Amino acid sequence: MTSRFSSVVLTGASSGIGEALALELAAPGRALLLVGRDAERLAAVADRCRRAGANVDTALVDVRDAEALAATLLAFDDRHPVDLLIANAGVSAGLAPGRGPEAPGVSRRLLDINYGGMLNTVEPLLPRLIARRGGRIALVSSLAGLRALPDMPSYSGTKAAVRGYGVALRGWLARYGVGVTLVYPGFVTSPMSARHGGARPFEISAEKAARLIVRRLEKGRRVIAFPFPLALGIFLGNLLPPALSDLTMKPFEADVAPDDGR
Ligand SMILES: NC(=O)c1ccc[n+]([C@@H]2O[C@H](COP(=O)([O-])OP(=O)(O)OC[C@H]3O[C@@H](n4cnc5c(N)ncnc54)[C@H](OP(=O)(O)O)[C@@H]3O)[C@@H](O)[C@H]2O)c1
Repeated sequence: MTSRFSSVVLTGASSGIGEALALELAAPGRALLLVGRDAERLAAVADRCRRAGANVDTALVDVRDAEALAATLLAFDDRHPVDLLIANAGVSAGLAPGRGPEAPGVSRRLLDINYGGMLNTVEPLLPRLIARRGGRIALVSSLAGLRALPDMPSYSGTKAAVRGYGVALRGWLARYGVGVTLVYPGFVTSPMSARHGGARPFEISAEKAARLIVRRLEKGRRVIAFPFPLALGIFLGNLLPPALSDLTMKPFEADVAPDDGR
């Protein structure tokens, strides 16, 4: 294995992009800690990763449980000093049917999982990465964190928050030799995107997304945004006056079916 990463932590490994990332990262000589909540799906992913030769630990932990997650991360790091930490776990939600306000509690839940869960993943290992003067932290945001989707206010807000935290972290940690990568996927085929009832231009498979992410992490990229046409469109759209920029979002109107609410 010629890779800069020998010990990897990945949250949200039981489904979608995280599952594909786990399989892409599974290789002889690499230790993986896969975190998720669904025991059956996580075990199935772990089995496939073991068959690919990786040394795999699993943890059934909710990323909102800061204490349990910290204990899991530190115990894994004791045995396999982590050099890549991917905070990928996340949930999505949109407006109520008929474009009414988001259901009560939705915003808080998304903040607790998408932002709070990301913090709970990063914070326990920060002192160790700094002390070791190495490693990389990858935070999975979304293109919706670069340009909010009008029908997904809370989701867009949490992904923008991940971006803000990550950009600050990147500047702060550079002096310690710890790299930080912000990942901004567009539409990727997964159980999450299957609930997105609207246009999904340039959608790519989770496998393709995972290949692209891992390849760019290996190169030490600070920003991974894809697909290129959508990322470029968002960059240019953000230069427009707000009224015009808002008009460009019309084609992205979407009904987002609720998830299981866990
Ligand atoms: N798919 C897209 O088009 C797209 C686009 C942009 C960004 N993203 C981002 O990419 C990441 C992965 O999304 P995906 O499409 O792969 O979604 P997904 O198929 O629904 O998978 C989400 C993963 O996150 C885990 N998760 C959710 N809440 C958790 C919690 N409280 N504690 C622990 N694990 C939790 C799930 O675990 P369990 O199933 O075991 O509960 C699952 O493994 C998310 O951060 C998402 O916002 C996705």
